[in-house]
Amino acid sequence: MNAVLLGATRGMGRALARLMAARKDRLFLLGRDADELQRSAHDLEALGAAGEVGFAQCDLERADGFAAALDRAQDALGRLETVVVTAAQFASQEELENDAALRDRLLTVNFTNTIHFCEEARRRLLEGGGGTLCVFSSVAGDRARKPVLLYGATKAGLSHYLNGLDHKFRRSGLKTVLIKPGFVRTSMTAGLPEPPFTGEPGQVARIALRALDRGKPVTYAPKIWRWVMFCVRLLPRAVMRRAKF
Ligand SMILES: NC(=O)c1ccc[n+]([C@@H]2O[C@H](COP(=O)([O-])OP(=O)(O)OC[C@H]3O[C@@H](n4cnc5c(N)ncnc54)[C@H](OP(=O)(O)O)[C@@H]3O)[C@@H](O)[C@H]2O)c1
Repeated sequence: MNAVLLGATRGMGRALARLMAARKDRLFLLGRDADELQRSAHDLEALGAAGEVGFAQCDLERADGFAAALDRAQDALGRLETVVVTAAQFASQEELENDAALRDRLLTVNFTNTIHFCEEARRRLLEGGGGTLCVFSSVAGDRARKPVLLYGATKAGLSHYLNGLDHKFRRSGLKTVLIKPGFVRTSMTAGLPEPPFTGEPGQVARIALRALDRGKPVTYAPKIWRWVMFCVRLLPRAVMRRAKF
């Protein structure tokens, strides 16, 4: 498999890229920090990735760079087979309510520009005869909850979009793979209180890679979160108004 990964310098994206390198996939990295990209590329080469691991800068705050970044990936890999998006940002609900600039940035990065990026990727995958678009959303998009109201709204929109792509383009050869992590121990969640069923990046990466290989449209990781969110979705509105989670 060859794959382009946006967001593999840290967290779950990094864990997934390392699994793919170990099984000798061909990889190309996109991200916003050239030094981090270079460090990650060397790490993946040392782990066994096929050929040289190329990289190009791509900042989700700057949609005008998406086409050029994907062009570079395509030139390096030949044909694009798989595009994985794990990059995103997080801030607390309180910070987002009180800081309009931060709110604007998070809404843009996690929703508007992630969709612009996916549209560029989708077009290229379909032009190449088909392929897989794998995007990390979140269980926070499954039910509106007070502590992650704004972050969750970006993920709800993203999940909706990916499901729509599946309905529209699956028969044309586009496989969409939506990963919905629960709470996972990464730099994104550092310092936050850990709920039950907290996962590890490597555990999520193994589940995501299986879903990727199978072209499975929706996957919760760790898997228990499927049932947790099933129950949360059933809770009446009156309970959600009182709940602290
Ligand atoms: N951790 C959780 O509990 C959790 C739960 C549910 C869903 N998720 C979702 O799972 C995905 C991965 O999360 P994670 O916890 O692994 O995150 P993470 O460790 O914080 O890593 C985030 C990645 O996104 C990149 N990134 C951030 N802003 C970017 C930008 N403007 N342009 C390009 N790249 C950017 C970072 O690059 P730099 O190295 O340059 O910073 C990093 O590679 C995200 O979509 C997140 O929303 C996480």
